[in-house]
Amino acid sequence: LVLVVDFGAQYAQLIARRVREARVYSEIVPHTTPVADLVARRPKAIILSGGPSSVYADGAPGIDPAIFHAGVPVFGMCYGFQLMASGLGGEVAHTGAREYGRTPVTVSDPGTLLADVPAAHTVWMSHGDSVTRAPEGFSVLAATATTPVAAFERLDTRMAGVQWHPEVMHTEHGQRVLEHFLHQIAGCRQTWTMVNIVEEQIAGIVAQIGDDGRAICGLSGGVDSAVAAAIVQRAIGDRLTCVFVDHGLLRKGEAEQVERDFVAATGVDLHVVDAQKRFLDALAGVSDPEEKRKVIGREFIRVFEAAEAEVLGAAAAEGVKVAFLVQGTLYPDVVESGGGAGTSNIKSHHNVGGLPEDLEFELVEPLRTLFKDEVRLVGEQLGLPADIVWRQPFPGPGLGIRIIGEVTHDRLEILREADAIAREELTRAGLDRDIWQMPVVLLADVRSVGVQGDGRTYGHPVVIRPVTSEDAMTADWARLPYDVLERISTRITNEVAEVNRVTLDVTSKPPGTIEWE
Ligand code: XMP
Repeated sequence: LVLVVDFGAQYAQLIARRVREARVYSEIVPHTTPVADLVARRPKAIILSGGPSSVYADGAPGIDPAIFHAGVPVFGMCYGFQLMASGLGGEVAHTGAREYGRTPVTVSDPGTLLADVPAAHTVWMSHGDSVTRAPEGFSVLAATATTPVAAFERLDTRMAGVQWHPEVMHTEHGQRVLEHFLHQIAGCRQTWTMVNIVEEQIAGIVAQIGDDGRAICGLSGGVDSAVAAAIVQRAIGDRLTCVFVDHGLLRKGEAEQVERDFVAATGVDLHVVDAQKRFLDALAGVSDPEEKRKVIGREFIRVFEAAEAEVLGAAAAEGVKVAFLVQGTLYPDVVESGGGAGTSNIKSHHNVGGLPEDLEFELVEPLRTLFKDEVRLVGEQLGLPADIVWRQPFPGPGLGIRIIGEVTHDRLEILREADAIAREELTRAGLDRDIWQMPVVLLADVRSVGVQGDGRTYGHPVVIRPVTSEDAMTADWARLPYDVLERISTRITNEVAEVNRVTLDVTSKPPGTIEWE
């Protein structure tokens, strides 16, 4: 275990991921955690993350220097590097020389940390203060034009630091430097591999659910619920029941992916609830986006709870006392909600009609320690279909919020066809993993005049909205190659009779959102 101490910048999650890419398990802890608690977790190393730009700023978070005398290897990055320098008796000064962005660095003495790294390379910096003198016993490894001490190490106490951000993509050789610290300086063993992750998760689930517990899992068609279900299935076999609510708002082929391919790959016991008509009836006459979301959310909960009550009621009738609900919660959700990484609390379940009152209900969250990219790798390891494992994010309300106007059966059919063509061409161009999402939006209340064959047409426009993004909080419109756009446009207007115009959305987020509704 490596603990990443978070000083409030956005870098801690990225650092934790990079540590795991180095095959060492890591967790994030707030900087307010007492040193005694950090040490009690017996970490193999502690990493101090970046943070605010100055250790002198008002209210700048500090760290108890006892951390440097606990016998645990420490690596400081950026702000963490400065905390280390000042905490160990070195010197940090306002030199007035700020460095932001790509910065050339010169390695004077590679030592262990910078071994095999070119003497001149480029790193990503973001700091105002500089370390002007390294602490006693540390050797200085590198400098920049304005920062005399940009990296240091001390091997007997297993400590090192860099002024730059080795975790970001723009830093050359960043991962290598991090691995030198973890593997060579701190002596961490490389045990965090997909095989081990899967085995560890399975053992945890077996321990939690026991020999006779029953679990239920709702599948959405997305990667998280699919991987969560597949792991639990490995652990408890047919004591897991999956429920898939087909609300009719999925894209072409997605319901089949779940009902056929996912079941074939995992052997799970799947209950499919065909609720297409119910959702369409509930959506009739609704065109306001928030109202659509409300209706879809409400119907979903009702349908899922009815299915849940049926499955769990049957289990209770067989004398099963403890029932489990599987959820695909990911590590970033846990970190962001300020929770620890321990197992979750027992949930006293709400209004599930028809359940015996004394039935206990507990959450199982097998992905609680994993990042999204790890979830995909676990999915591959478990043999799930690539279409599910690599599926782009898709909103819960589905195509319901990609039809501008009322949602009807016919409009869904039109959009499903257009969307399938766009996705097919994106895949054919090999761009699936470069494009974060590519909604296709049907402007169902708009008509435009066109000409096709020898006749005038009066059809609907669709909008294609390819975007690149890291986390959906911000996004940029994707510059798809013209020939890909051309194929999408030609095929949609030829193959989907009701669509006679294809338009491209060239708005970033902000000011636009990714979805149109
Ligand atoms: P926006 O449109 O806000 O979308 O830029 C950001 C991300 O969230 C997805 N999204 C949703 N997901 N329920 C969901 O589960 C929703 O109501 C919803 N609305 C948007 C969207 O696809 C994008 O990935």
